[in-house]
Amino acid sequence: MTRVRRRASMAASLGVGEAIFSTAEERRVVSEVERGLEAVEARLLNEVDFADELADVTSRYLLEAGGKRIRPTLTLLTSQLGGGVDDRVITAAAALEITHLASLYHDDVMDEAHMRRGVPSAQTVWGNSVAILTGDLLFARASKLIASLGEDAIRMQADTFERLCLGQLHETIGPQEGDDPVEHYIQVLADKTGSLIAAAARIGLTFSAAGSEFERNVEEFGEKIGVAFQLVDDIIDLSAEFEQTGKVAGTDLRAGVVTLPLLYLQRDAEHDADAAALLARIEAGRASDAPLDAEIAELREHSATTRTLDEAHRWARDAQAAIEPLPAGPVKKALTRFADSIVERSS
Ligand code: IPE
Ligand code: IPE
Ligand code: MG
Ligand code: MG
Repeated sequence: MTRVRRRASMAASLGVGEAIFSTAEERRVVSEVERGLEAVEARLLNEVDFADELADVTSRYLLEAGGKRIRPTLTLLTSQLGGGVDDRVITAAAALEITHLASLYHDDVMDEAHMRRGVPSAQTVWGNSVAILTGDLLFARASKLIASLGEDAIRMQADTFERLCLGQLHETIGPQEGDDPVEHYIQVLADKTGSLIAAAARIGLTFSAAGSEFERNVEEFGEKIGVAFQLVDDIIDLSAEFEQTGKVAGTDLRAGVVTLPLLYLQRDAEHDADAAALLARIEAGRASDAPLDAEIAELREHSATTRTLDEAHRWARDAQAAIEPLPAGPVKKALTRFADSIVERSS
């Protein structure tokens, strides 16, 4: 129960449930979302169960390690535009969170990340094969849940998953001849992260009998906050605060994973000797497996990072513009606040 209660306060940490939600109608929406999050949490714990001793331990490992549950929070929020939270909405929210969870197992193998959600990454504990297979099992479980929602939901899940994989693939292979590296990178973010957050926002409408009127708006909102979210993630990778982030500073930088601060630094290096020197030190440090602590701190303070934050704010504002046509009310207010909290986050 303690865990479930902690989750409910997750909504609060994302700006939903703050004192600014003070009218009776606003308080009703906030408490429905919080109750919904408890139901999603119970559903997740129930579903992540494979009747296999090893698989149960490995699959519950990251589920129970933490996570902000931003995708289910969004689904529950958008469901409030229509019929509200019911069993189908809970199922959809749980299925997309499991899809996200699965992608984390695979992502940490690909990124050689040692920590996730404050604990050693799954492959650090069990090796690559078990981590990859646990991710696959979770994808299978997400599909099974989605199948109970009908063909449209299956198609939506498949389209989303396809984009997520293509995003990860395009990140892996990098920009091709003639691609602008920054444009390529933003497209990668929209695909690998925006797609799932967009689906989470939309699916709340699809299964709450809200009709399709605002589906495109909330989908665009989700995709754009997804990009903003990832850009902030790039800055978090440079953060020294493990206690807050649950990840080790500079993991992406050391593993050679591209981030926007690094791309901007590469651009600056073409005409700025200081930027070129920092870049050279980062590259040399990488080649020799050096800890890169000083370089990480320097990049954190560099204008390449400030500009990344500006870009994140721009995407958050565009997300807010996408939901402009929504009727004024608690959902619109909460989504707007949600976009702000994404760019203010530090974990
Ligand atoms: C991390 O997502 C992976 C990305 C897609 C950036 P979150 O930051 O939502 O991860 P949790 O669920 O809170 O751990
Ligand atoms: C994760 O992206 C995206 C997916 C899991 C699809 P990142 O690799 O940038 O996220 P973190 O930093 O590991 O959470
Ligand atoms: Mg990663
Ligand atoms: Mg990655």
